[in-house]
This record gives sequence, structure tokens and C-alpha cells, in this order.
Amino acid sequence: MHVIDPPLVSAAAIQARIGELAFEIEADFGGSPLALVCVLKGGLFFAADLLRQLSMPVSLDFIRAQSYAGRHSKGTVEVSLWPSIPLHGEAVLIVEDILDTGRTTDALMTRLRELRPARLALCTLLDKPSRRIFPIKADYVGFTIPDRFVVGYGLDCDERYRNLPAIHALEPD
Ligand code: IMP
Ligand code: MG
Repeated sequence: MHVIDPPLVSAAAIQARIGELAFEIEADFGGSPLALVCVLKGGLFFAADLLRQLSMPVSLDFIRAQSYAGRHSKGTVEVSLWPSIPLHGEAVLIVEDILDTGRTTDALMTRLRELRPARLALCTLLDKPSRRIFPIKADYVGFTIPDRFVVGYGLDCDERYRNLPAIHALEPD
């Protein structure tokens, strides 16, 4: 495997886009409190950077779901960490690294809806709409990308490359 240069999305482009997303989110939620739920592990850096650009009162919690082994979907979604903050009646924003087939997010949103939040919105850094199987549409999308396997800025391939500051395509050698 090797990481392709130049990056598909540079570190500077990521930060600039996060500023724009934060502006949109603030406008839509009108300064009322927001419960941000970061989808681990891939959403870690995105959630941390987005959180710091939001000026309304925000709480932070985590959810963990796994549906991938290497590059290929296993086809099942396992939830291994669930938010500890009560989300009933709250405005909830799910923060994801990438929307691919939509399987993971579809399962998470179905389960989070059962907690009856006042509002449930979805923000994803990356969107690969060409791969969608489940009819999920994000409210906020950082970048729409082609059907490439990407790593960096939290995204991994078998736990590697999360630490890259930019987003790169990954190719077999
Ligand atoms: P989905 O359930 O097919 O939408 O896949 C969502 C999850 O698969 C993401 O949260 C990622 O963890 C992983 N994933 C999908 N595409 C990529 C990619 O290009 N690079 C790294 N992880 C990916
Ligand atoms: Mg992953």
C-alpha cells in the first residue's frame, strides 16, 4: 500500500472548510445548545477542530461503530460505545469522518432516533455519494470525493495513517 501525493484534500483546505461548516451550523441552530456526537475513531480530529470553531454552548460525546475490515465492508455494524450524556430532547449533531455506503450511519441514526432527540443532524467531513447503498443524506458535507479509498486526518486503513495531516488516496503497490 502507498499513500498518493499530492493529497486529495490539503490540511489548509480542511481547516478552511471547517470554518465554513461551523458558520452554517451556527446559523442553522441559532445559538441554541448543541450536543455533538463524534463517531470514533475516524471522526476524532474533525470533531475536535469543528468543536473549537463553534461558539454556541456545545457538549461532546462519543459513539463507536465498526463496519469495516481493511478496505472492505463486513456488511454488519457493531456499536461498541454509546453516548453517556442524555440526548432526549437535545439538538444532536453527529460528526462523521466519511459517508460511504451509508450502512454505519444509517444504523447509528436509527438507534440514536430511539433516544428521541429534539433534532438529529448529520455532519460528515467526506462524502462518497457514488458508493451509497443506504439512502442517507448529510446535512453538512465537507468535501464530496470520488470513489477512492482515502486515509489521513483520522481516516485509517487497518489502523494506519490516521496521523497524516491531510487526506490522501491510498493505492495498492
Ligand atoms: P459505510 O458504512 O459504508 O458508509 O462506511 C463508513 C465507515 O467506513 C467510515 O466511518 C469509515 O470508518 C469507513 N470507510 C469508508 N470509506 C473509507 C475510506 O475511503 N477510507 C477509510 N475509511 C473508510
Ligand atoms: Mg474506519
